[in-house]
Amino acid sequence: MQSASSASHDTGYKGGLEIPGWDLFYVGKVRDLYRHPNHSNKMLMIATDRLSAFDVVMEQTIPDRGRILTHITEFWLDQFKDWMPAARITCDPAEVPDLPQEFHEQLSGRLTFTHEADRVNVEIVLRAHLAGSGFREYQATGKLWDIEVPSGLQNSSKLPQVVHTPTTKAEKDEPITWLQAIELIGDADEAAKIHKMALKIFGEASDAAAAKGIILADTKFEFGRLNGELVLIDEVMTPDCSRYWPADDIVEGQEPPSFDKEIVRAYLRSLTDWNRQAPGPNIPDAIIIQTRQRYLDICQILTGSLPTHQSDL
Ligand SMILES: Nc1ncnc2c1ncn2[C@@H]1O[C@H](COP(=O)(O)OP(=O)(O)OP(=O)(O)O)[C@@H](O)[C@H]1O
Ligand SMILES: [Mg+2]
Repeated sequence: MQSASSASHDTGYKGGLEIPGWDLFYVGKVRDLYRHPNHSNKMLMIATDRLSAFDVVMEQTIPDRGRILTHITEFWLDQFKDWMPAARITCDPAEVPDLPQEFHEQLSGRLTFTHEADRVNVEIVLRAHLAGSGFREYQATGKLWDIEVPSGLQNSSKLPQVVHTPTTKAEKDEPITWLQAIELIGDADEAAKIHKMALKIFGEASDAAAAKGIILADTKFEFGRLNGELVLIDEVMTPDCSRYWPADDIVEGQEPPSFDKEIVRAYLRSLTDWNRQAPGPNIPDAIIIQTRQRYLDICQILTGSLPTHQSDL
């Protein structure tokens, strides 16, 4: 429950909805996953407006964030659909079997009905620029874990080529070497295929974003297997799993202005009385509104459109 003092603009979708016939079997940081007994090996993935920062899910939401993430994922999946299979079936509530009509409008834009894939438990992280944990690692060791990169680079510097720095898919993701990734994937050929496909998607998306004045600095992909075929699962190149930067505003050595929840993180960092444990502190209205606007901005720039349904603020 929100306290009376919580932001009045916190009208976002918190999740946890009870849908008759559907079993809410997993509550992630952002997504709620449901199964239905009539539809084995499929699931309903609902992107909520929950926001996590420093691994704590905040009490407040960013209205429409889940819809924006879903919209951007849809956009990219559509771009590559001719050659990159995905697990999703539909994002149209009317096409989801056994979804009661009274939930259609509320879930429109947030839901993805998807095949439940056999998940590859490695996060495929690709980096074109130095940022975040990659930059911290480089500062500490001069490398990107086991990968050699030139000396003299700074925060946000472009890398000579896109670097693949896989991590485990766990409660706390840990960087792993490519050999460890192959072991987790279980098959060297399949691992090589994932690597190649991820680089191809990343390359095409970077070019498309660059044409719109946006740098795709890095991203994380998740893959799964469906009937023996590799498919993309989960969200795809959203501002939650990627860093997008306005190309004109990048100054090497400085922290780039990012199209994500950096505004919230900066606010949280400014607090002296929050110990980075749940529950999160109250986030002022202005921060919520600005963050929502950043998400809307990147959605409009990348996809040329916005989710059809939006909250009344
Ligand atoms: N088609 C799919 N088949 C199997 N698992 C999937 C599929 N699509 C998404 N997932 C999984 O569903 C979950 C979605 O939940 P959510 O995005 O909230 O993730 P999470 O629990 O916060 O974890 P993370 O922070 O690593 O994304 C993830 O664990 C993702 O791996
Ligand atoms: Mg996720």
